[in-house]
Amino acid sequence: MSLGYRFLLCLAVVSAFPMLAPHMWTKLILTHHWPNTFCGMEHCHLNISYWTLHGFWPDKGILCNSSWHFNSSEIEDLLTDMEKSWPDLLKPTSAGFWKYEWSKHGTCAAKAPSLNSQHKYFSKALELYHKADLNSILKKFDIVPSENYYKFSQIEGVIENFYGVKPKIQCVHPSKNSVAQTLGQIEICFSPDFSLTDCDKHLPLKTFSIEDQGFSKGSDFSVCEHDVPVYYPPV
Ligand SMILES: *[C@@H]1O[C@H](CO)[C@@H](O)[C@H](O)[C@H]1NC(C)=O
Ligand SMILES: *[C@@H]1O[C@H](CO)[C@@H](O)[C@H](O)[C@H]1NC(C)=O
Ligand SMILES: *[C@@H]1O[C@H](CO)[C@@H](O)[C@H](O)[C@H]1NC(C)=O
Repeated sequence: MSLGYRFLLCLAVVSAFPMLAPHMWTKLILTHHWPNTFCGMEHCHLNISYWTLHGFWPDKGILCNSSWHFNSSEIEDLLTDMEKSWPDLLKPTSAGFWKYEWSKHGTCAAKAPSLNSQHKYFSKALELYHKADLNSILKKFDIVPSENYYKFSQIEGVIENFYGVKPKIQCVHPSKNSVAQTLGQIEICFSPDFSLTDCDKHLPLKTFSIEDQGFSKGSDFSVCEHDVPVYYPPV
C-alpha cells in the first residue's frame, strides 16, 4: 500500500468515527451495589433493601478536569432522588460521595456534549437507573435476598435474558467459613447514545475498583466465579 493511500485511509477512518478519538470513552458503566453486602465489609448500619447506584463511569479516563468543582446547587432538583437512589452508604447525609464521583468520573463523561454539565450527568445516571429498574427485574424473576444460595448462572441468566446484553456481576469471595460468594455489584453498560450494550468483563479492575469508589475496601469485589454458589444477603 502506498503511503499516500494509507494516509487517505487513515483520514477516512478518523472522520467516519470521530467518537473513536483515543481520549474519548466508548461505554458508560452504570454500577449498582447491594448495600447490605457493602455494609458487611464496611460495617455501616443501614436498612436499605434495594440496589442503589454506586457510579456512572465512562470506560476511559479518570479525573479529567480538576478545576470543575462539584456544586450541589446545580442539581438541587435532583437531590431527593439522589439521596434515595445514590446514597453515600458510609455517610448518608453527605454529598461527599457525589463530589468524588463527579471529579473522578463525571468530568470525563462530560467530554460528550450529552453529558457536559453536572445536571446532565447526574440526571442521566438517575434516568438510566430508573429505566433499567434492576430492583424490579430481579424480583420479577424471583431473584430475591435469601438464606438459600443461588447458582451464579440463574442470576446472570435473568439479567442477560431481560436486557439482552451482558452485565458484569461482582461478588465478595467466600470467607473461610463459607462455601458461598456474596453478591455485591451489578454493572449494566450503555453506549454513547445510551442504548444498552455488553459490559466488558475484563476491563482492568483497578480502574474501577477501590480507590475509585473512595471506599477503603471495595477491592474485595471481583467478578463472580461461575461455579461457586451465590449468597444474596437479606437485610
Ligand atoms: C427496616 O425497614 C423495614 C421495611 O422497610 C422495616 O420494617 C424495619 O422495621 C426497618 N428496621 C430497622 C431496624 O429500621
Ligand atoms: C474544565 O472545567 C472548567 C470549569 O467548568 C471549564 O471552564 C474548562 O473549559 C474545562 N476544561 C476542559 C479542558 O474541559
Ligand atoms: C454553584 O451553582 C450555582 C447555580 O448554578 C451558582 O449560582 C453558584 O455560583 C455556584 N457556586 C460556585 C461556588 O461555583
